[in-house]
Amino acid sequence: MGILDKVKNFREEEDRLQWEGTFEEYLNLLKERKEVAQTAHSRVYNMIKSAGVTETDGGKSYNFFGEEIFGLEESIQRLVEEYFHPAAKRLDVRKRILLLMGPVSGGKSTIVTMLKRGLEQYSKTDEGAVYAIKGCPMHEDPLHLIPMHLRDDFYEEYGIRIEGNLSPLNAMRLEQEYDGQIENVLVKRIFFAEDKRVGIGTYTPSDPKSQDIADLTGSIDFSTIAEFGSESDPRAYRFDGELNKANRGIMEFQEMLKLDEKFLWLLLSLTQEGNFKAGRFALISADELIVAHTNETEYRSFISNKKNEALHSRIIVMPIPYNLKVHQEERIYEKMIKDSEMDHIHIAPHALRVAAIFSILTRLKDSKKQGVDLVKKMRLYDGENVEGFNRVNVEDLKKEFPDEGMNGIDPRYVINRISSAIIQKEVPAINALDVLRSLKDGLDQHASISNEDRERYLNFIGIARREYDDIAKKEVQKAFVYSYEESAKTLVDNYLDNVEAYCNKNKMRDLLTGEEMNPDEKLMRSIEEQIGVSENAKKAFREEILIRISAYARKGTRFDYNSHARLREAVEKKLFSDLKDIVKITTSSQTPDESQLKKINEVVASLINEYGYNSISANELLRYVGSLLNR
Ligand SMILES: Nc1ncnc2c1ncn2[C@@H]1O[C@H](COP(=O)(O)OP(=O)(O)OP(=O)(O)O)[C@@H](O)[C@H]1O
Ligand SMILES: [Mg+2]
Repeated sequence: MGILDKVKNFREEEDRLQWEGTFEEYLNLLKERKEVAQTAHSRVYNMIKSAGVTETDGGKSYNFFGEEIFGLEESIQRLVEEYFHPAAKRLDVRKRILLLMGPVSGGKSTIVTMLKRGLEQYSKTDEGAVYAIKGCPMHEDPLHLIPMHLRDDFYEEYGIRIEGNLSPLNAMRLEQEYDGQIENVLVKRIFFAEDKRVGIGTYTPSDPKSQDIADLTGSIDFSTIAEFGSESDPRAYRFDGELNKANRGIMEFQEMLKLDEKFLWLLLSLTQEGNFKAGRFALISADELIVAHTNETEYRSFISNKKNEALHSRIIVMPIPYNLKVHQEERIYEKMIKDSEMDHIHIAPHALRVAAIFSILTRLKDSKKQGVDLVKKMRLYDGENVEGFNRVNVEDLKKEFPDEGMNGIDPRYVINRISSAIIQKEVPAINALDVLRSLKDGLDQHASISNEDRERYLNFIGIARREYDDIAKKEVQKAFVYSYEESAKTLVDNYLDNVEAYCNKNKMRDLLTGEEMNPDEKLMRSIEEQIGVSENAKKAFREEILIRISAYARKGTRFDYNSHARLREAVEKKLFSDLKDIVKITTSSQTPDESQLKKINEVVASLINEYGYNSISANELLRYVGSLLNR
């Protein structure tokens, strides 16, 4: 489909969704679709829920956020279950301002933006549909037309509770345009859209002196006073402040704690009582979710001020710490790079991973528990199996520092350093070492790092570098084996045949001659020694493997070399040690002979075709690993 057809389709779809009718018709619609009259909080919650929930090991992951927010499942779960869900049920948290508190570039704005964009889409669905009094600048809830004294009756009949009073403007319109007959008032379906200022608002405070409350609540339109006669005529007022426009939806306050105090009080009464004061009018009811964000320092100084005590108790604070999982951090960088102008640059495999390792290390706190160093902790958090630890240990580790992840290196810094690495390099390809170097150079320029932290961070760069060395060596060695998986499989099968014969005290049969022979002790030991299985322990090790195999067989699954972590490690190491010399000679030879050259070309091809390198990064890798192996 061409773009113009798509535009046309879109327009037709928009037209199809339009609805306009009288209040009477609207009430009929409500009888069948009660959800149409839900509160803003409830709509947000249902939107999140409708995207689905995935049960994970430790909890729940809300799919709504999953596409753009990585590694914050626990914080999101808390946000949904301690705020959105109870707020949707009209519990008291709804009456508090939601304040996301977390370190810079930790995803707070992204979360809020997702909610806003999500609502725009959701208001176009049947479940998320919103209706309003036609022609009202605040898209007022039509149910406000029902007089106060009849609201209990309304509840009996419709099962819907109504909150809020008819606004002064619509009260006047009701009299003048509809002659007081509410059933004739026109109602219209609305679609949230921030750019059209429907149901979604944003406010960023300017400096305190020029903050103008009219930006939030609207203002008198002096040009119309002559026409309407007085300032207190609602028609002479422009209800076009952010709070007016965000009615029925969501209102974002950036840097909320920088707001002038009188603004904060306005917000409080809005959340607390569901109304605010504008101009010379009676209170104006509004139904909107108010979400703000701030960083920890600002928050601390805010609550340490006695004057703010009352405010404090009316705010619900949700911590949004940094992600602490290496593989999720990689995804964050991938996403940010994709969104940037760097996405044509080749980024060699593992380059983002080493950066992620570095970042996560800066965010973790040293555990006091025995035998847990920072690197182990990082692996455990990332979901890796670490010998001697299980999931319960990981949960305990997380509980040790509830405020972990509130500081350290932020993703934006890493992306900045990656782009600076790209600029410095002449070729459009960067590798892990380029990234680490750039991260290191950047530490000197990073304004907010203390000398002490700088020392720690340099050490983390060293750790990330060593991790990379291991990965790089392994990768090259793998590429050297004609088909790594194939070789590993053959070796394992061979080993398992021997183990089986050994445990059952059977003979092996030579495939060629048919001769009987003893299990190949030398082969078995050469593998077991790679992971330090001693002569005394070998029997138990082999038996344990056999038990594993039969357990697999009972479940009907095939045991292969990936089924047993230690066996896999042993096999990898064995393959690598057999290879080491040839890799060393080939990669570090200054003047490779013909056969070496051929091998190098094969390896480069395999790195490119199977491992995601390009010719620049593959050659860089080989050179680096050559130098490593000769140390
Ligand atoms: N956990 C995360 N998952 C996905 N992206 C993230 C995550 N944390 C940060 N980012 C990315 O980092 C960048 C900065 O995030 P964002 O602007 O949302 O942070 P913030 O908390 O609002 O920061 P600030 O305090 O500086 O306003 C964005 O591109 C965002 O997508
Ligand atoms: Mg932000």
